[in-house]
Amino acid sequence: MCGIVGYIGYREAYPIVIKGLKRLEYRGYDSAGVMIYDGEAVKLCKTKGKVVDLEERASKEITTNGTIGIGHTRWATHGVPNDVNSHPHLSNSGDLVIIHNGIIENYAPLKVELIKRGYVFHSDTDTEVLVNLIEEVQKNENIKLGKAVQIALNQVVGAYAIAVFDKKNPDEIVAARLGSPLAIGIGEGEYFIASDASPFIEYTSNAVYLEDGEMANIRLHKKMKVRKIQDDSLVDPYIQELQMNLEQIEKGGYDHFMLKEIYEQPNVIKDTYRGRLHPNEGIIQMAGVEDNLEKFLNADRIIIVACGTSWHAGLVAEYIFEEFARISVEVEYASEFRYRNPIINSKDVVIAISQSGETADTMAAIKLAKENGAFVFGVCNVVGSSISRETHAGAYTHAGPEIGVASTKAFTTQITVLTMIALRLAKAKGTLSHSDFNRYLQELELIPEKVKEALKTNDRAKEIAAEFKDAPNCLYLGRGYNFPVALEGALKLKEISYIHAEGYPAAEMKHGPIALIDDQMPVIVIAPIQGHYDKIVSNIQEIKSRSGRIIAVVTKGDTQVRELADYVIEIPETSDALSPLITTIPLQLLSYHIAVMRECNVDQPRNLAKSVTVE
Ligand code: F6R
Repeated sequence: MCGIVGYIGYREAYPIVIKGLKRLEYRGYDSAGVMIYDGEAVKLCKTKGKVVDLEERASKEITTNGTIGIGHTRWATHGVPNDVNSHPHLSNSGDLVIIHNGIIENYAPLKVELIKRGYVFHSDTDTEVLVNLIEEVQKNENIKLGKAVQIALNQVVGAYAIAVFDKKNPDEIVAARLGSPLAIGIGEGEYFIASDASPFIEYTSNAVYLEDGEMANIRLHKKMKVRKIQDDSLVDPYIQELQMNLEQIEKGGYDHFMLKEIYEQPNVIKDTYRGRLHPNEGIIQMAGVEDNLEKFLNADRIIIVACGTSWHAGLVAEYIFEEFARISVEVEYASEFRYRNPIINSKDVVIAISQSGETADTMAAIKLAKENGAFVFGVCNVVGSSISRETHAGAYTHAGPEIGVASTKAFTTQITVLTMIALRLAKAKGTLSHSDFNRYLQELELIPEKVKEALKTNDRAKEIAAEFKDAPNCLYLGRGYNFPVALEGALKLKEISYIHAEGYPAAEMKHGPIALIDDQMPVIVIAPIQGHYDKIVSNIQEIKSRSGRIIAVVTKGDTQVRELADYVIEIPETSDALSPLITTIPLQLLSYHIAVMRECNVDQPRNLAKSVTVE
């Protein structure tokens, strides 16, 4: 995880690096640091805490003038978050400065060897080992930084996106990546380095995304050189035009990114299906699916791999694919799949779902599936991300940058894409009647309006939040398509408000969790009129007779559940299969308000990071 930023050019580097780090804080925020080269000396400042803490400290401790700089915002892997373990790290001579996102797995034996050679370590990090390894190589071989970085990287095992600066040769930054993302912005007489393009979008719209195993020599007034770390061969980098704009990565008047992103859902769902969904013509068209239709149609089964919220979207997709396209689906946690010797063969289609497109476990699951001959299809949000490039084909969700650590719009847009794929396959296989197919297409087109309607539950969600904000535990229940929504509702609550919450299929209650119910336990039941309504009413009755406090998400006009529940939140009616796109909205709002009322850091919850690039 961690975010890295670098600048080399003619502007003041410090404000660019600091602003960039703030934009990357979603990647980690337990400590931060910056190095500025002022033309003579290296100015270093680092601290436990957030980028604002760094700014405060830097203003007292260093002069910040200089046109070369690198900075880091950390999510600790090796060594607790403290000042010393924060990046940048210096080599023993003080000449080399490094920032690193990733993990050097063989750092321990390398460290032992370096200690034998007289190196002293100040931090507990793997990164300090790497920078000293580079120094040792440079010293022994008497070579320039780029070559030394290359030789050193060929000795390390692990994942990295790094930027390294050498005081002895100060018109250059060397950057490299393996398994962690790295974008290089190319301006006129200036270069930007960052974990994603957000730190530099106002300066340039041209970017190179380094591929795994590539490194770049970035020199002032020279053309950047990209080469393969392993064999030194030169690469002609593809310069991509960025689609991101500044507005997308700012809060736009909302108190938090999470709230902004919740409210963006009507628009981004539209963006997701724009140009793909044509209800009037009865057509769904997605290039990645059309080009590989035979592979989908010949598949014995679909295996979905993902983590966290994306895994929940995968669970919704399981119900949808099986119902619409009659293809058997297995949904796997990527982290379990990759380590359990799964049976995969060339007739399997594997769908990898990932907002960031960088999740290490999902990435590893994809590689495993490919090695076993499966066709791998990605559903990613971040354009050009590692997963989008590692998969054989895919479909972007087009949700725009999701900055709040808790995933919201990524979830609903993932479900939208997956629903469209299922419908496309259903059409090809004839597993849905013509009229049902057309009805779903029309209904999907109406979803953004219904989400807008569902967002009107905000005040109600706030009232209920005020009532339950101090609850120590919470249960979420749903059936069928809304069982994964119950899991997602519980995850949202626990990750941003730190209230313990569990999601269950409603009927599973009597097999254990019902023992938890008493008059203190809030139970959130997703009970839309479509689906297993009568069954869920019975489940609500079971909770009621044990004095549980019921908050029910119901279809507008519902009367039966209203009589039983303590609180209801009304949402517009939609078919059972599409209901997760609507029922999830009040649950997002409820978690949001509870977290705000508990004074939690909504956008940057403790211990989390947006992009989990370590396994
Ligand atoms: C929860 C959340 C995480 C992510 C998970 C996978 O709100 O955001 O559970 O869903 O870390 O991340 P991606 O989708 O980027 O692979």
